[in-house]
Amino acid sequence: MSFPSSVRLVEVGPRDGLQNEPEPIDTATKLALIDRLGDAGIRHIEAASFVSPKWVPQMADHREVMTGLSRRSGVTYSALTPNLKGLEAALECGVEEVAVFGAASENFSQKNINCSVAESLARFAPVLERAKQANVRVRGYVSCVLGCPYEGEIAPSKVAEVSKALFEMGCYEISLGDTIGTGTPLKAKRMLEAVAADIPITKLAAHFHDTYGQALANLYAVLEEGVAVIDSSVAGLGGCPYAKGASGNVASEDVVYLINGLGIESGIDLDKLAATGHWITQTIGRPNRSKVSVALSKK
Ligand code: HMG
Ligand code: MG
Repeated sequence: MSFPSSVRLVEVGPRDGLQNEPEPIDTATKLALIDRLGDAGIRHIEAASFVSPKWVPQMADHREVMTGLSRRSGVTYSALTPNLKGLEAALECGVEEVAVFGAASENFSQKNINCSVAESLARFAPVLERAKQANVRVRGYVSCVLGCPYEGEIAPSKVAEVSKALFEMGCYEISLGDTIGTGTPLKAKRMLEAVAADIPITKLAAHFHDTYGQALANLYAVLEEGVAVIDSSVAGLGGCPYAKGASGNVASEDVVYLINGLGIESGIDLDKLAATGHWITQTIGRPNRSKVSVALSKK
């Protein structure tokens, strides 16, 4: 395979990034962040999560976020919906795309969404049906594709099995989550090959966390195989509340710098994105994990 000619970046900072803050961030700051990301040329922003506020209080203002957005034309604003209750609430807020999130690890599934992998798939089926009726696209996440905080190694065949189930159920794209960032490039490639035996590579996205500093190397490996959708978080914000010690996603600024260098088109203004990373980390008092953003802010 060869590199794709363009990449669609799915910015998950407002959700995956801010869900992990020790204190919830105010809605106005979230809305300003989403607006800045759109202004930097990002065309897909995961803006909120319609999960239980008891489980993730940081996302409790999902309705205010989804209805408070200044929508830009050509930009998709999506939200996580773990069940029908979440989907119905998201539909009331005029959402145009949602995501269900499963896992390749039984233990992570229990800890994250309080059910087994099989139960989660059964729970997602009516979500997909209802979303289809409402003309809303559904993305499918698979977590722990390169390791689990509770089970350690995860077999690529298990990742392929769950991915295939979500794809056959109607998810238009499957995002492969290295939730705890333990993957390395050859492992990432092997896992991708297993999944791509059943699902076209154009329907797969890479969602890599950077706990061990491997995310860019892992991305390079899967870009080389033709993956053309990358999830990332501005300034590398975040982590997962149900995976202790996992750090944020790969920083969006660093991904854009990498793909610019490879001659891959993204339509994103790197300077504006880096300024956004600088602004949000200053505003919420967190470290900026984007090396590119830090370097550019010193110029
Ligand atoms: P549960 O407790 O089993 O749910 O949670 P339940 O159906 O038994 O309901 C219990 C209570 O929750 C009820 O309220 C429901 O109404 C309420 P009560 O009667 O006690 O007052 N409830 C809800 N409230 C709001 N929105 C909803 C909802 N559903 C039920 N949608 C549930 C099951 C899935 C809801 C829960 O486990 C949950 O919310 N989990 C979310 C965990 C989460 O958000 N994790 C982080 C995101 S995943 C991630 O970060 C990984 C990813 O980035 C990819 C990667 O990196 O790998 C995507
Ligand atoms: Mg994640």
